[in-house]
Amino acid sequence: MSAILPHGGPFVLEVGSGHGHFLTAFAEANPGRICVGIDLEQDRVARSVRKRDRAKLGNLNFLRGDAAMLLEVLPAEAAADLIFVLFPDPWPKLRHHKHRIMQGHFLTSLANKTLPGSQLCFRTDFEPYFRAVEETIRAHPDWTLADAPWPFELSTVFQQRAAVFHSLVALRR
Ligand SMILES: C[S@@+](CC[C@H](N)C(=O)[O-])C[C@H]1O[C@@H](n2cnc3c(N)ncnc32)[C@H](O)[C@@H]1O
Repeated sequence: MSAILPHGGPFVLEVGSGHGHFLTAFAEANPGRICVGIDLEQDRVARSVRKRDRAKLGNLNFLRGDAAMLLEVLPAEAAADLIFVLFPDPWPKLRHHKHRIMQGHFLTSLANKTLPGSQLCFRTDFEPYFRAVEETIRAHPDWTLADAPWPFELSTVFQQRAAVFHSLVALRR
């Protein structure tokens, strides 16, 4: 991790970075920010790394793995100050809700790796998931819903397929 986060933090994290379009554009527009994307799918990470290399970005890394596990192995001094979770798998069936990434315990893990004032930006086209996450954040001791502007716009692969979508920004207390 020290090669990826040479100064410990703060850094920008994208959870489920998919094909890497969003974070590559963000890193290009913000050369002073260290950016890390993580995704479970090897082929998506490989495509993301190729984008990063073509753009010659030294401030961007993509990792293959589980975001929850990454949070557990981050160095103690590492802290994300901006987190994007864009169109995560919605798991629409009730019996599959347990697989959703945006749940209370994940928000707690994120809170443990963020500083007060850090932003968590969530976007989905599945409204029931959006409402559930709003409720989870309202009930969470570490996060509060913020009336803050969306910090960076670039359409992801899944956003391009969405007719409508919903966004929220939460602030770390
Ligand atoms: C529906 S896709 C959205 C990808 C991208 N954010 C977009 O908007 O185009 C969800 C992505 O999250 C990844 N993913 C699911 N669970 C994950 C986890 N626990 N950690 C990291 N990535 C995860 C999947 O592999 C997939 O690429």
